[in-house]
Amino acid sequence: MKDKVAIVTGANTGIGFELARGLLERGATVVLGCRDLKKGEAARAQLVLETGNENAVLMQVDLANLARLRNFVTKFEARFSRLDLLVHNAGVWPRTRRKTEDGFELTFGVNHLGPFFLTHALRPLLELSAPSRVVVLTSSMHFEAGVDFDDLQFKVRRFHGGTAYGQSKLCNVLFTLGLARRLEGRGVTVNAVHPGVVATELSREAPENARNPRGKLTPKEGAEGPLHLATSPDLASGQYFEGTRQKSPSPGGLDVATQDRLWATSLALLKLPPEA
Ligand SMILES: NC(=O)c1ccc[n+]([C@@H]2O[C@H](COP(=O)([O-])OP(=O)(O)OC[C@H]3O[C@@H](n4cnc5c(N)ncnc54)[C@H](OP(=O)(O)O)[C@@H]3O)[C@@H](O)[C@H]2O)c1
Repeated sequence: MKDKVAIVTGANTGIGFELARGLLERGATVVLGCRDLKKGEAARAQLVLETGNENAVLMQVDLANLARLRNFVTKFEARFSRLDLLVHNAGVWPRTRRKTEDGFELTFGVNHLGPFFLTHALRPLLELSAPSRVVVLTSSMHFEAGVDFDDLQFKVRRFHGGTAYGQSKLCNVLFTLGLARRLEGRGVTVNAVHPGVVATELSREAPENARNPRGKLTPKEGAEGPLHLATSPDLASGQYFEGTRQKSPSPGGLDVATQDRLWATSLALLKLPPEA
């Protein structure tokens, strides 16, 4: 990974932190995209100390704030002329209905719309830097989920954290496959991965018994799948993995019409121009 530039969102803790460590150990320059700069700086210092790689760069990425995301892209492009790897790792599983700065329901906003917006903004640089990669952290919970296009943001239905999280993780699969199709032949590989059930802060709002780490993977083990997608040579695009094993995603995730409907809906919600 020497001379490669990577962005890992949510790199201050959990799977993102261990993934950043793995990339730094392989010699990459890693931009730690963190919403909280204090936590981000503590993580950066620890990663530099433990990997000996000084090229861990902290930059603010707040997926719940489109203006800040735009600001991040401007700063990133002023500092780096290439982007070899974009890892959409950051995610939330709130238990109550809350909103992003832009008024989107938080789970949908942070887990889907933010990454969609960031990818849209960085796509020209990813294409310029080809061969390059996008890795999306999804969940096997997408198998049980649906996308309710009439009420994506729980304005009508009663909010349920698990349903909102599952829907957002199905959106991650639909987005991955939709993006892979759009980038076919352009040298940008796009894949999604379920990391396993990992003891992290993702369940920080869950009842105490659900936060028990017993029987769960460590964050380092959880980072193995994403690291595989980020670094293994000759990887095909548009695939779903569980850990390091490629699998078929849910039939709902494979549905091209749903992928395209989500794509068009996301562009409209983000006030981005429709596709030609
Ligand atoms: N853990 C599991 O069992 C599991 C299973 C399947 C899939 N996943 C997926 O794996 C990914 C990583 O999760 P994790 O388990 O490592 O969870 P985690 O320990 O809670 O880490 C989540 C990261 O996302 C960041 N984040 C939250 N809101 C953000 C925002 N608005 N903007 C930017 N960053 C934000 C957090 O920052 P703060 O620390 O500042 O909050 C944190 O760095 C997620 O996409 C999750 O859905 C996890």
